[in-house]
Amino acid sequence: MKNKIKFNNIFIFLILISVAFSCQSDDDMPTETPISVSFEVIISEGNTLRVLANNTSTGIGGLNSYWQFTENGEVVADQAGPEMYLYSASGDYLITLTVEAPNGDIQSSQTITITGEDYVPPALKDATSSFSVGMAVRSNRLTGQHNEVLVRDFNNITAEYEMKMDQIFKAENNMDFTASDKIVDYGIANSMDIHGHTLIWHNATPTWVENFSGTNAEFETMIETYITTVVKRYAGKVRSWDVVNEAVEDGSNSLRNSVFKLKMGDDYIEKCYQFARNADPNALLFYNDYNITFDAGKQASVFALVDDLKSKNLIDGIGAQMHISIDFPTKAQIESVVNGTISRGLLIHFSELDVRVNPNNDITSLTEEREIAQQNKVKEVVEIYDAIPNANKFAITIWGMRDSESWLPDFWGNPEWALLYDDDFKPKKAHNGFLEALD
Ligand code: G3I
Repeated sequence: MKNKIKFNNIFIFLILISVAFSCQSDDDMPTETPISVSFEVIISEGNTLRVLANNTSTGIGGLNSYWQFTENGEVVADQAGPEMYLYSASGDYLITLTVEAPNGDIQSSQTITITGEDYVPPALKDATSSFSVGMAVRSNRLTGQHNEVLVRDFNNITAEYEMKMDQIFKAENNMDFTASDKIVDYGIANSMDIHGHTLIWHNATPTWVENFSGTNAEFETMIETYITTVVKRYAGKVRSWDVVNEAVEDGSNSLRNSVFKLKMGDDYIEKCYQFARNADPNALLFYNDYNITFDAGKQASVFALVDDLKSKNLIDGIGAQMHISIDFPTKAQIESVVNGTISRGLLIHFSELDVRVNPNNDITSLTEEREIAQQNKVKEVVEIYDAIPNANKFAITIWGMRDSESWLPDFWGNPEWALLYDDDFKPKKAHNGFLEALD
């Protein structure tokens, strides 16, 4: 439903211009519809910052026309279409429709007033019932405005780092569940699905495990004990697990030479999934990796690895991390991993979505243009996900809340604004992009 906007102090200029063409004598000249340029403005009820302009001009058949939306005095959108613009704040804004008529441009302008300050966009989790919307969380960010955003927008949480081995497995006879319990208890208290991340990852292996001096058999027993203890502790609470994360080398079809591979053998992955399956037969088990949209060698290896696990009923889904940029990977590349997963009858989790707006380090602040590009990319990703069969849906998880809390600036060494909320916890255009995909 859309409400017509109430105009205040607005002058709607309906410009009725009749243009006479002198190419024939009056008496046999066909009667031309005079050109009249006009439009009406509508604001969607669902989002008081989104402006829709409806072209009501007549006699402009075959003529080019374009829209200019201004914000704070500057033209922020100069476009043939769509006749829509999402403002970032309330205010008075000029909108102009220009028609390129034979005798020169004809314009119609309106100034609209929108009051979007108190606007709270619809909750992400309420925008779909076919998959859950997840957020990466930390145990020291579960209160205040973090909590407000979490309970409003999300129904699935992943520990960004505190359920990894290097945070729990302090020594062979010492497992510290303080932080992981806090996160799990929060998820249970707020009726959220909890995604366990991750039992086995070469980048989160405690140094003492890397340097384990016992026999390989003792190492394997220790890893079985670890996986069994953790998964049993959270059975019935943690609905799903990334049992193994990032086991395949970039650009290749080989497994990383992690300490697990070296001490437990090439079949360490199958063993770890078996340990997890035995510990909680009801948990959904995922394999999680990055760049498996465009890295064909890696994607093929992951699918082969998953096929083997599936043949032994040891896996339920694939996590495609989705650490992407505004212009990469392409829709087709993203769909390639989706289709490969669906064809295997598995769940797919977009498990760590963030969208870099500064991949070439060429901006020092978030521009309107990059923010809109990010909104469009998020919309594309969510549209791809929402188009898959419900039977294969699981969740889309965003890898961090506020732009300033992302792992990316430290990792890449340049400014980034890759998430859905700004530093004031205010939803960005990317948040709207997520919603638009589900409109
Ligand atoms: O919060 C503590 C702080 O109290 C302490 O002083 C400091 C120094 O020890 O460490 C801080 O914790 C760090 C944490 O990030 C928060 O900044 C951990 O050491 C650090 O290891 C952790 O890094 C995480 C990384 O995985 C390794 O676990 C990142 O947050 C997290 O975004 C990143 O996520 C990974 C996924 O799990 C797998 N896919 C790739 C993705 C990005 O690397």
